[in-house]
Amino acid sequence: MITKEQLQAALRPVAEPTTGLSLVELQWIRDIMIKEGRVSLTVVGFEKGSEAQAEAERDIRFRLSEAGVGEVHLRFREASEQEREAAFSSARHPSEPAQSEREELKGHGAGLEQLPILDPRSGVQFIAIASGKGGVGKSTVTVNLAVALARQGKKVGLIDADIYGFSVPDMMGIEEAPLIEDGEIVPVERFGVKVMSMGFFIQDNNPVIWRGPMLGKMLRQFFSDVRWGELDYLLLDFPPGTGDIALDVHQMIPQSREIIVTTPHATAAFVAARAGTMALRTEHEVLGVVENMAYYECSKCGDKDYIFGRGGGARLAESLHTELLAQIPLGAPDNHPSEPDFSPSVYKSDSSVGRLYDELAQRITLICEKD
Ligand SMILES: Nc1ncnc2c1ncn2[C@@H]1O[C@H](COP(=O)(O)OP(=O)(O)O)[C@@H](O)[C@H]1O
Ligand SMILES: [Mg+2]
Repeated sequence: MITKEQLQAALRPVAEPTTGLSLVELQWIRDIMIKEGRVSLTVVGFEKGSEAQAEAERDIRFRLSEAGVGEVHLRFREASEQEREAAFSSARHPSEPAQSEREELKGHGAGLEQLPILDPRSGVQFIAIASGKGGVGKSTVTVNLAVALARQGKKVGLIDADIYGFSVPDMMGIEEAPLIEDGEIVPVERFGVKVMSMGFFIQDNNPVIWRGPMLGKMLRQFFSDVRWGELDYLLLDFPPGTGDIALDVHQMIPQSREIIVTTPHATAAFVAARAGTMALRTEHEVLGVVENMAYYECSKCGDKDYIFGRGGGARLAESLHTELLAQIPLGAPDNHPSEPDFSPSVYKSDSSVGRLYDELAQRITLICEKD
């Protein structure tokens, strides 16, 4: 069976049409899944329906069949402005070693070694998403913020640390389990986000009883034994409440910041406040509040109906001396199970809620990258 490295080697000559840079080098061959001789992947950077796209598709299919892959499933998507900027600005100068050579150098300890992810000098921005209680949309917000950050060209990881209700794989439409390579767990990539979830290791949805120390142990393993590669952001979807795990995370990642998710309903805001107070007590910087299910927008007249009340998110933000980062309306994404990259909970970039998540991601990057 072909490995991910062999696949990338086979596709390295395939170029992005406007610059001629290698798609593999640009990291625009994404979401690579290899399963029983079948390969599926996403190619970023081509105009829909263009001749360049058709040509790249023929080229990729040819190269993969030469490499012995029987069945190939390709998805194409266009690159956003930010993705182009990010990719081309960090693109390799011809005199620099290629990514593969850099990796080899790393192995030889040539000073380019990647720092452990928890080392503050690694530059990874940790963001924990918390809420006082379940069901407010914390996982939905985490998943969509992660995907929106990836759309902006950021390298994003997501840890589903909600060990009681690990829902991230289902929400993103991930059906495969991560591979183990050289004793390391390779996260599953979906919509450009590297995902790790305890759900990957649980058979048949059996309920798991976790005790405090086990949670910490699992999290620690997710940092040490997972091959994250280079990351700009690592998002953590917490279990609801204010339990041991927040303290564990504080010890492990004192540099982590938090986003508090709430619904407008006063009691939800009240319990979310506890999560916020906890964040302050553990000295985690609170980036702000996201108010989910903030209103219902009439599809015909566009009027906003604040059915769960109004102002809960803003009040919470005020009491935590932070900002209200976004208000997300009620409504499920308009996705269909027949689509090849179906996911129940990811809003597309061209939907109105998808655009709200893009704005949220922009605000987050502005805050996190100003210093
Ligand atoms: N803005 C929204 N509009 C409608 N349904 C939503 C919205 N956000 C979340 N949901 C739904 O509410 C339920 C709980 O969301 P989830 O993200 O799992 O919450 P949590 O992680 O806080 O428990 C899920 O079924 C989810 O699809
Ligand atoms: Mg959840």
